[in-house]
Amino acid sequence: MSREVRVGVLASGRGSNFEALWSASKARRLGARVVCLASDNPRSRALERARGFGLATLCVDPGARRGRLAAPAEAEIVQFLRAERVDLVCLAGFMRIVGAPLLDAFPSAVLNIHPSLLPSFPGLDAQRQALEHGAKVSGCTVHLVDAGIDSGPILLQVAVPVLDADTVETLSARILEREHELYPRAVRLWAAGSLRIEGRRVLARDPENSRQKNSRQIQKTTH
Ligand code: GRF
Repeated sequence: MSREVRVGVLASGRGSNFEALWSASKARRLGARVVCLASDNPRSRALERARGFGLATLCVDPGARRGRLAAPAEAEIVQFLRAERVDLVCLAGFMRIVGAPLLDAFPSAVLNIHPSLLPSFPGLDAQRQALEHGAKVSGCTVHLVDAGIDSGPILLQVAVPVLDADTVETLSARILEREHELYPRAVRLWAAGSLRIEGRRVLARDPENSRQKNSRQIQKTTH
């Protein structure tokens, strides 16, 4: 029998997506197990909740580079995730750009969730960007992380209409509800070995019918 896929989460703040992943894991609806959480913020609610759940946790000092992790902090996170035998890393409101040390340690195995339909509105304040641009539809995206900002291949997306009466708060709240469904779905697909990458396209087989159901690695097809 193949080993259970082990998930490590990186989060900086509120942690509602972390909790959605953790709840699905606890209810055995994730096809994987959330085993640990690392944060760059000692006051993050995600960290507090993870400790409460009895998960292994790590809090790093991110250093002074705005928006990025200092090299020692990133190395510490990689060491922690390896010690926890993590297969898949999920960024969930992690407010730092990750770099080569993490991406090389977990090839095709770092996911992020973003509150817009990428490639529209990457970066900070995606919901505000959508509203101010006058978009009629926004949504959320789970994607593989690459060296850019919210620029990696897209796994799953769901659309959320922008209503005339929306404020940043109301739109964010409706998108967040969908995020909590989308992220566990994406992790289930990854964990079932149901994804194949062809260039920028991530193709999903139906996990129930997949003969390679238990292969952990995403297959890469080169052209
Ligand atoms: C979410 O909107 C997520 O899409 C974005 O940051 C927010 C984190 O929220 N990357 P939470 O900490 O998971 O509640």
